[in-house]
Amino acid sequence: AALPGVGAPRSAVAAQATPAVAPPRPRLLMSAPEHFEVSYAINPWMEPDRWRPDDATLRRQARAGWDALRATYESLGAVVETMPPVAGLPDMVFTANAAVVIDRQVLLARFRHPERQGEETHGRALFAQLRARGLVDRLHTMPEGVRFEGNGDVVVDNTRGICWMGYGPRSDLRASTTLQAVARRPVWTLELVDPAFYHLDTCLSLLSGGELLAVKRAFSPAGWAQLQAIAGPQLIEMPEEDALQLAANAVCIGRDLVMGHCSPALRARLEQRGYRARVVPLDAFRRSGGSARCLTLELGT
Ligand code: ARG
Repeated sequence: AALPGVGAPRSAVAAQATPAVAPPRPRLLMSAPEHFEVSYAINPWMEPDRWRPDDATLRRQARAGWDALRATYESLGAVVETMPPVAGLPDMVFTANAAVVIDRQVLLARFRHPERQGEETHGRALFAQLRARGLVDRLHTMPEGVRFEGNGDVVVDNTRGICWMGYGPRSDLRASTTLQAVARRPVWTLELVDPAFYHLDTCLSLLSGGELLAVKRAFSPAGWAQLQAIAGPQLIEMPEEDALQLAANAVCIGRDLVMGHCSPALRARLEQRGYRARVVPLDAFRRSGGSARCLTLELGT
């Protein structure tokens, strides 16, 4: 996820040309972890039996991590909108899955697992409110029976004028037809083949300069070849240690990369390319298979 930044360092040439007006502030959607827990397993990270004994401690950690994530976004100039949490929907905290928003068009999710399908009506209601406030335009839905898990499986690549869509574990390949119509830009589909990296945003992260951080083993050989063909030297392979901490699940705001983990090796590589890693303690959410980007939905600027 790459969003325009506020107060991002600029090159000397660009600095001269900088207008006096402030850059647009990214608007992000989050949902507080009031009811967050791991009470079922729909991905390999989720172990309800290991969550239960430490439930109270983990909930406290989740709350602290979520608050820190929100504060980090706000310190980087983002505006955070919130979606009211609902009892019995522990994964609603992962707002990235509610929809994808591209140029003010909203394409709502249709969840694969019954455990999360209850989130759909709340998502629709929330986006209707955002529409009434003038923050988005139309709401679109997938055809009957087509699964699609929102920004969890989409990387909106403004540097290339395309969208990347992951499919397999959660979203259906045929969702790309509707996505392409709503996004009005080419959609490149990538098959996800490793159950641990079940959403595209667990294994592909777009930086504001167009670099893509990617977990190689998450993609089919054809998918990886396509990433290489299109991104060329801007494709950066994620170190294994970071991949296993869900470090690819990051949100880039200007030159800051907000993430739940960053090894010294990855930090050095990011710094070489002019990015700062902003690590927020999100371990409690990793036990559900999520990190910074899953907890965040980009609404636009
Ligand atoms: N427990 C959630 C699920 O399995 C985690 C979702 C993470 N979201 C994401 N965008 N990767 O559905």
